[in-house]
Amino acid sequence: MANDPLLHPYRLKHLTLKNRLMLTSHEPAYPEDGLPKALYRAYHVERARAGLGLTMTAGSAAVAKDSPPVFNNILAYKDEVVPWISELTDACHEHGTAVMIQLTHLGRRTRWDKGDWLPAVSASHRREASHRAFPKQVEDWDIERLIRDYADAAERMHAAGLDGIELQAYGHLMDQFWSPLTNTLEEPYGGDLDNRLRFTFDVLRAIRQRVGEEFIVGVRYTGDEMLPGGLTASDGMAISQRLKDSGLVDFLNVVRGHIDTDPGLTDVIPIQGMPSAPHLDFAGEIRRQVDFPTFHGAKIQDVATARHAIASGKVDMIGMTRAHMADPHIVRKIVEGREEEIRPCVGANYCLDRIYQGGAAYCIHNAATGRETTMPHTISKAAQKRRIVVIGAGPAGLEAARVAGERGHEVVVLEAASDAGGQVRLTAQSERRREMMGIIDWRLERCEALGVEIRYNVWAEVEDVLQENPDVVIVATGGYPMEDQPTVGSDLVVNTWDILSGHVPPGKRVLLFDDAGDHAAMQAAEVIAATEAELEIMTPDRTFSAEIMAMNLVPYMRSLQRPNVTFTPTYRLKSVQRDGSELLARITSDYLDLDHERRIDQVVVNYGITPMADIYFELKPHSSNGGEVNYEDLIVGRPQAVIRNSGDGFQLFRIGDAVESRNTHAAIYDALRLVKDL
Ligand SMILES: Cc1cc2nc3c(=O)[nH]c(=O)nc-3n(C[C@H](O)[C@H](O)[C@H](O)COP(=O)(O)O)c2cc1C
Ligand code: SF4
Repeated sequence: MANDPLLHPYRLKHLTLKNRLMLTSHEPAYPEDGLPKALYRAYHVERARAGLGLTMTAGSAAVAKDSPPVFNNILAYKDEVVPWISELTDACHEHGTAVMIQLTHLGRRTRWDKGDWLPAVSASHRREASHRAFPKQVEDWDIERLIRDYADAAERMHAAGLDGIELQAYGHLMDQFWSPLTNTLEEPYGGDLDNRLRFTFDVLRAIRQRVGEEFIVGVRYTGDEMLPGGLTASDGMAISQRLKDSGLVDFLNVVRGHIDTDPGLTDVIPIQGMPSAPHLDFAGEIRRQVDFPTFHGAKIQDVATARHAIASGKVDMIGMTRAHMADPHIVRKIVEGREEEIRPCVGANYCLDRIYQGGAAYCIHNAATGRETTMPHTISKAAQKRRIVVIGAGPAGLEAARVAGERGHEVVVLEAASDAGGQVRLTAQSERRREMMGIIDWRLERCEALGVEIRYNVWAEVEDVLQENPDVVIVATGGYPMEDQPTVGSDLVVNTWDILSGHVPPGKRVLLFDDAGDHAAMQAAEVIAATEAELEIMTPDRTFSAEIMAMNLVPYMRSLQRPNVTFTPTYRLKSVQRDGSELLARITSDYLDLDHERRIDQVVVNYGITPMADIYFELKPHSSNGGEVNYEDLIVGRPQAVIRNSGDGFQLFRIGDAVESRNTHAAIYDALRLVKDL
């Protein structure tokens, strides 16, 4: 390991970073009152303790009140932030991890109806598509005020004992000045590139006056907007050179692309099915030409790619940000020669998509991330070994089996199918979502290493379970598609699983009625549309795919915006009947008493999942707790102790979609928080 280029220290000015792995700035939306309190600290400390070189905390920490957070960011304009940042910094420093913070003014990338309801401000009146605020164009007094705000915030961060700061430029106020697309100002802040950069250099000079020469200051920016009329790669090179030549900054953190639209953001931060490390060579070219400390991160999910980024000299520090959300202990596992145990980031982007919907960033298959104060990343051994039977080897069942195995229990999994994975396996039928199988494969490998026994092709009956003489039975049998919705003609429709599994081939003229708004509908739509069938996707909701969040929708739209596909929101399928060789679908709406019709040859429905839990109900009378869960104990992390029947039966629990139709994260969280205390 000593020769691993990833583990070589890196000297940045006076600071020695102990290895080349960093978290690029990412706001997981964990602040409380805009301050990084206990959870925030615990999140970073978990990764520091495992050996991370540098953590760039926050993401878009706001320097001014007219940059109200769009996703619960740290408020760097508050004086109260200083002790909280200090505490976080000290706690990470104890483990030798350097700590910096990203500061920003969002400019037009926010809304006026948040925070103090101040006007959004930018270098033009042009609206950003994603956040939709029409900004005020900055005046002279705004510019003076904003420069002061940046400097004040930097001074607070310096006072907090951080190792440095990074100014976030791309898509935010700074590069709204830089880009010809978003700067309609006159001189001295509009016009040629030097004028458009003037605001940034004014800010940097003001910051230097406050924090001195020693404090580390960097800029994260796009080296090519990849937009007609926007900043080009040659502009990016010129900007990089000017940043270096200014003597005001100590490192460059390079991204490529634009983030003003969902598709743009998704190209900057690629999700599953998109190429790995797409901007690494670009960042490497900037480093080669400018010859200055360069950081970069964009879909570097595996250690081999990160190692290549460093070994090839493309960049000096490499970000593995979402990878560390999935597994906070990457560096420790590299050092200990346990790379194959790293829980893979599968690019599901549940983390990032959630923050744009007002939630905290959670990892689709690591339920301890973002819950470090209550959920363990390392499972402790149980005081007493128990025999645990898990029924079902989908994500919930396998997580239950894995955690029970880590606890040191004797674990048997009974799976009805010939392989593991449940709905995740179905999802992964899509080439674009194949990475989802990492959720299953990682658990299968961990289960094998832990001696968990998995028996396939076993449709568990009560007798099978009783024969195992279990102490605990966990029913994780998932569900099946709900089918009984159209009042007439249910037997004439097929469901999305039929299409996804390949059991039913797509028709030629297809109506896909999506009442659930989840991935199953869009994935089935992709399969159907690819055959050139005429496809109408109908939903009673205000918008289609209500459960698929912003960045996840992008690849679907890229494959479905084609002439043979139409979208029809706000209409409802009422009935289906046969009419000769065709099907006649009757359509209504929740808004009006309509009666429209469609003549097609196939109706595909998506009504969500019905729990499949017969075995649970059959086992209830044999159990000590009758299946009851004490929610208070579950929430605070106490072992379950309910007795409803005689006390000598096994404990019985039901998790995941076998309880109610939810998602993969919920299934895995159900399992982790129950089983960690068994
Ligand atoms: C939850 C989350 C929030 C993020 N917020 C920011 C941010 O505020 N500023 C920023 O520059 N990048 C932000 N990012 C982008 C990351 O810094 C990084 O560029 C991106 O995740 C790609 O790197 P990765 O593939 O290693 O995750 C965020 C990423 C995530 C996952
Ligand atoms: S939610 Fe998906 S993209 Fe985000 S960290 Fe987890 S596995 Fe990676």
